[in-house]
Amino acid sequence: MSVELRGKWALVTGASRGIGREIARGLAAKGCNLVLHSRARKHCAALERELCKQVKVALVGAELSIEGEVDRLVAEALAKSRGIDVLYNNAAIMTTYRQNYAKVTADDYRQSFEVNVIAPIRITHGLLPSMLAKKFGRIVQVTSGIRDEPELMAYAASKAALDKFVRDTVVKLAGTGVTMNLLDPGWVRTDLGGPKAPNPVESVLPGALVPALVDDDVQGQWFSAQDHAGK
Ligand SMILES: NC(=O)c1ccc[n+]([C@@H]2O[C@H](COP(=O)([O-])OP(=O)(O)OC[C@H]3O[C@@H](n4cnc5c(N)ncnc54)[C@H](OP(=O)(O)O)[C@@H]3O)[C@@H](O)[C@H]2O)c1
Repeated sequence: MSVELRGKWALVTGASRGIGREIARGLAAKGCNLVLHSRARKHCAALERELCKQVKVALVGAELSIEGEVDRLVAEALAKSRGIDVLYNNAAIMTTYRQNYAKVTADDYRQSFEVNVIAPIRITHGLLPSMLAKKFGRIVQVTSGIRDEPELMAYAASKAALDKFVRDTVVKLAGTGVTMNLLDPGWVRTDLGGPKAPNPVESVLPGALVPALVDDDVQGQWFSAQDHAGK
């Protein structure tokens, strides 16, 4: 792994808390400038104050279930940086746990797919042209190892759709200098993961950075952050 992130720019969606905040901290420690996203800019203000001593930091607020906000996010991220080199599509929602798994609603699916699938795909396609033009990009789609929980099928199916997007799109990226890979952070204690998760959120580092550091020919791979925990 040879990629130098110092001086590059990363967009991290869902950076205000949880896993996204740890990823932002890890990237800043490598000297990577940051565009931090959450639903409202003020949600990332404390993180901005923390990281601006190390790197340049810009904030963007956008609700990812609204197409126009997603497009504005892309435009603002590009305007506030010198072009985005690294993209972490990390923001996601988990819909309600339906005790009766046959009662997962159509709205559960709609909401999950809007935020967890359509938005990250749209952001990816919004940023890809500039990455392809400069022959460099590291795109990381944050997925999940969730399985055998049909009570959360709207969430699980959205992550499976994101996986499919990655695996079928990378055929177009071979030889371009732009890579796209999947990151499974593992089950960690966050607002989304809940208090029963076995791993502290800090355990996603350093593994969460691995797919941003890979060589040009590493495409469509599944990286598990917990494989690197404590190393
Ligand atoms: N935690 C786990 O155990 C676990 C396991 C496997 C995979 N993952 C994945 O890891 C990623 C991060 O999860 P997390 O546990 O860190 O989640 P989290 O603590 O709930 O944080 C979610 C982040 O996403 C943003 N966000 C949520 N809904 C949004 C929306 N509608 N529009 C725009 N931004 C929105 C939030 O911004 P605001 O602060 O503005 O709300 C926040 O920054 C997700 O992709 C998740 O599926 C997590």
